[in-house]
Amino acid sequence: MPAQQSSHDVVVIGGGPGGYASALYGASAGLDVAIVEREKVGGTCLHRGCVPAKEFLETAHVHRTLLRAGEFGFTTGSVETDFAVSQRRKQQVVDGLFKGLSGLLAGRKVTVVSGTGRLRADRTVEVVDGDDAGSVLTAPSVILAAGSVPRTLPGFEVDGTLVVTSDEFLDLSTLPSSAVVIGGGAIGCEFASLLVDLGVRTTVLEALPAILTGCDADVAAVAARAFKKKGIDVRTSAKVTGHKPSGDGKTTTVQLEDADPIEVELVVVSVGRRPCTDGLVEDGTGVVIDERGFVVTDDRMRTGAPGVYAVGDLVAGTPQLAHVGFAEAIVAIKGILGEPAIPVDYDRVPWAIYSDPEVAFCGLTEAAAKERGLEVVVKKDPFGGNSRARIIGDTDGVVKVIAERRPDGTAGQLLGVHMAGPWVTEQLGAGYYAVNWEATAEEAAALIQPHPSLSETFGETLLALAGRGLHVG
Ligand code: NAI
Repeated sequence: MPAQQSSHDVVVIGGGPGGYASALYGASAGLDVAIVEREKVGGTCLHRGCVPAKEFLETAHVHRTLLRAGEFGFTTGSVETDFAVSQRRKQQVVDGLFKGLSGLLAGRKVTVVSGTGRLRADRTVEVVDGDDAGSVLTAPSVILAAGSVPRTLPGFEVDGTLVVTSDEFLDLSTLPSSAVVIGGGAIGCEFASLLVDLGVRTTVLEALPAILTGCDADVAAVAARAFKKKGIDVRTSAKVTGHKPSGDGKTTTVQLEDADPIEVELVVVSVGRRPCTDGLVEDGTGVVIDERGFVVTDDRMRTGAPGVYAVGDLVAGTPQLAHVGFAEAIVAIKGILGEPAIPVDYDRVPWAIYSDPEVAFCGLTEAAAKERGLEVVVKKDPFGGNSRARIIGDTDGVVKVIAERRPDGTAGQLLGVHMAGPWVTEQLGAGYYAVNWEATAEEAAALIQPHPSLSETFGETLLALAGRGLHVG
């Protein structure tokens, strides 16, 4: 398309979850929306993040199931892995969703402009490269939704073969026989889990004294124990200093301070993500970018520039989660429409990590509640006694519920629900509603969970928290 000028109600820079949700929600309210996207709509989540990673984790799940088919009376013989087929299946899932999303945007008459958008001082959006380079889009409202990219680590330059980030990892067509994962956050744990499940000798090197530090410590400890049990070599307080490729370039040796080097075929760097704000806004717009490169907004997603909003991974001080981007997009669009909006309550968003075991939570951890000076009552129930967990043969895990302690010592309002174990990412919904509806322990405990189901462990924990458990004391 030749460079052109166009005007819209809203221009969105970035077509990931924050950007496309802004467009879809805005268009469904009758707004004329344009998205400027330099790659493909869907963003990190669809092409290099959530969706492909979870597809590979499902591949790992199928592999685990095959390996234990004998327990259920099936003879499968040896299980061979053809990762190229797994990669193709992942791509089919991604491509299908991309087609669906493109169709949705077209159906709502959202204009998708190809290139890198830049907010100019006069608050118009200029396309600086790509097929539509030179185009200028004008709108009373602009939403910055340019997302984030993996952070890299000095001494571990990404070459796409020996050293990768999540971007390259998700495009591998063969599996290494051994890997070091640097960083034990959500990405590191998901990748380590799927690698070890697919037979790769896997080491996680985490700089802090524990992995999954954003999670409640008890739940993270249960996950760490389960990871070790399944064969992941989890090393905390680890300090990597660099790596040295072998002469034939097939392996590399990761060097550590105070520990023996580790020779592996692949190093995966998962040490966080940085915002894509380089060159995103010209000087003089009024948009404030903090010292780490994140865009500063208020709780209605408004930046320092009138009519300019920001949503998604580039917003300062907020979790980098696709569903948080969706929620922020709705807040921004409601603001643009002049409708009242409920700000995102970042303390109570759902978190879901799809490793084996899965980890999911919302609300305060026990430590965070205590840091805020709250008195708490806590109950925990492991999945070991849950009948469905026994049926599926997956009993590693725990549910922990934290409530505010009333003056009489009983449990009052629920503050946090934390889970590790089978399918907890699907079970968190009940806990999410309970915490966000500010239910008390008794109110939530009075509701019934189906039997036999994994969610009974949550119900049992609530009953115990309310004062009288059936199976839990
Ligand atoms: P993260 O910030 O969650 O974890 C990075 C980990 O790397 C931290 O534990 C940190 O201490 C460690 N680290 C940093 N430098 C290190 C070094 N030099 N050596 C060893 N360890 C080091 O970042 P992650 O896992 O890369 O994820 C990025 C973002 O994407 C996060 O905000 C995460 O929440 C989000 N995400 C969420 C997912 C989910 O909820 N399922 C899945 C994937 C990503």
